[in-house]
Amino acid sequence: MIEIHNLYKSFGSQMILNNLNLTVRRGETKAIIGRSGVGKSVLLKNIVGLIKPDSGSIKINGVEVTDLKEKEYNKLRMEIGMVFQGGALFDSMSVGENVAFVLNEFMNLDKKTVLDRVADSLALVGLKDVEQLMPAQLSGGMKKRVSLARVLCMEPQIILYDEPTSEVDPITAAAINHLIIDLRDKLKVTSIVVTHDMNSAYQVADSIAMFYRGQVIADGKPDDIRNSKHPVVQQFITGEAQGPITEDENLIFGHVK
Ligand SMILES: Nc1ncnc2c1ncn2[C@@H]1O[C@H](COP(=O)(O)OP(=O)(O)O)[C@@H](O)[C@H]1O
Ligand SMILES: [Mg+2]
Repeated sequence: MIEIHNLYKSFGSQMILNNLNLTVRRGETKAIIGRSGVGKSVLLKNIVGLIKPDSGSIKINGVEVTDLKEKEYNKLRMEIGMVFQGGALFDSMSVGENVAFVLNEFMNLDKKTVLDRVADSLALVGLKDVEQLMPAQLSGGMKKRVSLARVLCMEPQIILYDEPTSEVDPITAAAINHLIIDLRDKLKVTSIVVTHDMNSAYQVADSIAMFYRGQVIADGKPDDIRNSKHPVVQQFITGEAQGPITEDENLIFGHVK
């Protein structure tokens, strides 16, 4: 469903994606793990066309998307929902307006259908009667759920989640994990879940890919990753630092958050 070949992306002298290859099968949930600054969000933005790669190929449903015109990309974006790291809600719009935004802007639906779809997608993320609230009135976890509802109301085939369980309490995190699994099982959604949270990765993913220095250094079933002998993979999943962060890593990763 998503095929990425020989992808390169740099910002100035900083090489972020350095010959990256990744395949996500239809109906699969692929987790992407890796240190802060390694380029996980940059990859997702390449897939939805918010960032153009320097070179390489991204095929979605067999279609090469790196050279699509903006108008064609907009059509494709209806099929790909992206849940941004911080939620990316419009602060001046109510929750209902936020969730309905894409439906109102790009789809020709009557008012009742829009309101129903908004309520249905909010219900899917466990929220009810919140349409009139403003984003400033929501907790971090609620903002994440609203941004997920905004994606769900487009009924996308592909959902890209950027750290969906970071900055939320463990109960909300568990609910979000369940939802990711449900969307795969019931709606057959194909997903990429970028996460720091190994529990979440093991729970939701059919396969896990680890990014390091611009490349995928391991890709396999959760158990394969758990049992990987690769020292960088082990270090990441066990959270055990092998010495301080080197000057070299600082340069490669740009900055360490
Ligand atoms: N639009 C941009 N312009 C310049 N540098 C960027 C841009 N987006 C990301 N970067 C840099 O690319 C690197 C990878 O960022 P990112 O993909 O956000 O990391 P993460 O793996 O934590 O999601 C970082 O060093 C970041 O500063
Ligand atoms: Mg990120």
